[in-house]
Amino acid sequence: MAGAGKRVYIKTFGCQMNEHDSEQMLALLTSHGYHGATCPEEADVILVNTCAVREKPEQKAYSIMGRLHQLKRDNPRAIVGITGCVAEQRGEGLWDHMSSLDFVLGPGKIHRLPEVLHAVDTGGDGVCATGFEDGPFVHLPLPRGCRVRASVTIMQGCNNFCSYCIVPAVRGRERSRPSKDVLAEIKSLVEQGTKEILLLGQNVNAYAKHDPAELTFPQLLAKINAIPGIERIRFTTSHPKDLTEETIRSFGHLKRLCEHCHLPFQAGSNAVLERMNRRHTREDYLALVQRLREVVPHLSITADVMVGFPGESEADFSQTMELMQVVEFDALFSFKYSPRAGTRAAQWPDDIAPAAKQRRLESLQVLQREITLKKNRRLAGEIKEVLVEGYSRHVPDQIMGRTRCNRIVNFAGGPDIMGKVVQVRITEGLQNSLRGELC
Ligand code: SAH
Ligand code: SF4
Ligand code: F3S
Repeated sequence: MAGAGKRVYIKTFGCQMNEHDSEQMLALLTSHGYHGATCPEEADVILVNTCAVREKPEQKAYSIMGRLHQLKRDNPRAIVGITGCVAEQRGEGLWDHMSSLDFVLGPGKIHRLPEVLHAVDTGGDGVCATGFEDGPFVHLPLPRGCRVRASVTIMQGCNNFCSYCIVPAVRGRERSRPSKDVLAEIKSLVEQGTKEILLLGQNVNAYAKHDPAELTFPQLLAKINAIPGIERIRFTTSHPKDLTEETIRSFGHLKRLCEHCHLPFQAGSNAVLERMNRRHTREDYLALVQRLREVVPHLSITADVMVGFPGESEADFSQTMELMQVVEFDALFSFKYSPRAGTRAAQWPDDIAPAAKQRRLESLQVLQREITLKKNRRLAGEIKEVLVEGYSRHVPDQIMGRTRCNRIVNFAGGPDIMGKVVQVRITEGLQNSLRGELC
């Protein structure tokens, strides 16, 4: 086999889709004889799976490339490849950052990894494979083996073109995976012992939106819910404009669907939302939250939000803070806007001073920390269903799991309950997790 005895190290940046791509690439290389390496120094092949969504992760990719250039001086036989969204965006331009780079492979071409490695091995330099193929949904099989939680891709790409966002450019147009393949993969995972399935896509609510012959997203959820042995279903991400009433009702009647919805709102001001090309208003968003809570009052709602978008005034920003106070998110991922070349917003002046962006981000995070802590503390005394994932990384001698609302709980327990669903009494709500005791 081409990779017999060779070791591969993959460093991943970015979102769950990138993590999933890394898993797929590792599985593909394993099937060609490669083994995983624990650090770049001991690897024969090093892959950096990059993210281009903001300036910071892109810069991280360049700084790691600098370090790998040094590493290649000590070990010229090591093969270094850049994959992921920066690979797609910059393509051949990446050789300006690292002249000793061996190859560049975009997210639409990861299935070609073995042949690219072969080309590099046989003397081809500077292989660059990017772009997206028309035709069937490209998805690689994952290795068999039990994982308590597993991600399953149901969609790739995005058609929304939010004005700030590079994702449609680096992940291509929206493609939905045939439901029969999704269901077959989930059945196989559940048979191997997986309890929780996370359905992945940039906008899963738009699943097969333009294909009348395919299941709708809520129909797909219902089919998954009926798979014998499945304990939990989650999905991410949802776009407010595509979250239908039928999907909202699914939270009420599908027993396996967890009470958690990640619903990015990005900004609280309609003027900013309009310039972001979000195609929903603040009022639309609040109406969705109200409807979700009518169906499941204790539903956990999390979101993404941005500060410092071009032209965001103090009054616009106050509307973001106000929306946060009204909704009281269970958790919030907050970012400073950074222009991404090629997007519509990058043509406008990035006119919010870095200090103002930082101040807005900090005030927003202070507010969210208060809300999160208050909500976590409120859970003390309640009994929650917890899926046990493993040993706690932060609390010695304890095990950890997640509630259906996606909160981390640490508690005392033994290996006998790993991978099981147990009842836990919450004893204390902390900033980032809960403490509990097994019932
Ligand atoms: N498809 C997902 C988002 C993927 S990107 C969705 O629509 O919800 C994850 C988050 O990064 C976005 O929700 C947004 O908050 C943030 N983001 C995207 N582009 C950005 C940019 N140019 N600057 C700062 N944050 C950005
Ligand atoms: Fe980006 Fe908008 Fe698509 Fe999300 S929905 S990936 S923010 S363009
Ligand atoms: Fe980043 Fe690409 Fe995901 S840009 S957020 S890794 S889709």
